[in-house]
Amino acid sequence: MAGGTFKPRIIGFLCNWCCYGGADLCGVSRFQYPPYLRVIRVMCSGRIDLKFILRAFLNGADAVFVGGCHLNDCHYNPEGNYDALVMSKIAKKLLGHIGINPDRFRLEWVSAGEGIRFAEIMNAFSQTTRELGPLGSSEGIDKAQLTFNLEAALKLVPFIKLVERERLRVPIRTEVEYEKFFASGDLDRLFDEIILEKYAISQIVALLQKKPLSTSEIAESLNLNPSEVSRHINNSSRYGFVRYDVEQQCYAPA
Ligand code: FES
Repeated sequence: MAGGTFKPRIIGFLCNWCCYGGADLCGVSRFQYPPYLRVIRVMCSGRIDLKFILRAFLNGADAVFVGGCHLNDCHYNPEGNYDALVMSKIAKKLLGHIGINPDRFRLEWVSAGEGIRFAEIMNAFSQTTRELGPLGSSEGIDKAQLTFNLEAALKLVPFIKLVERERLRVPIRTEVEYEKFFASGDLDRLFDEIILEKYAISQIVALLQKKPLSTSEIAESLNLNPSEVSRHINNSSRYGFVRYDVEQQCYAPA
């Protein structure tokens, strides 16, 4: 923030074949949008890992944008952007859960001929980000807590990818089938039942790595109720992540 005027940092991952071309055309055509976007060119939106999004926030981005080819126009696979679509739904849910406003993340399809569309999207997204303010400010969450939450979420990414591969596959890859799948609530259910539990365990282990704690101290730090913490501790002990220290009467990493 300089002189009271907030200039957001927006990281944009743009697919080389469509959205990057759209951004290029936008520039050549002199369509205007605020200069907040820092572009990272990737070969396909399907290459964009959930880790990239979390790392961008961890490294100071106020918002993250992903731009790919329109559905069914992906140059690889040819369905890389369906992977980006699922990743974006998970990213939004995860960001919301860890205390980051999901509106700080946006996925759009832009073809190489849609320079004006790229400018419109960037104008709208810049405006949204400006209104949200620096990361954490509108969320009421301080930097240390944000870093802790993002790091715990990052550790979870390999597990989320496993769930994605095993349970979030839509057999027929068409827009209609994906809409049906998202409307079915299966993704929400899987997220709530499987991913949130692992996220809580990831937070508990990260907390215990700093110092051994009792159940009530963990509950207080993570704003969870003690019975929930006990359940997560039992599961963590079963997986071999956490052990009970009899002498200190508290839990520590295994
Ligand atoms: Fe553009 Fe796959 S090549 S989204």
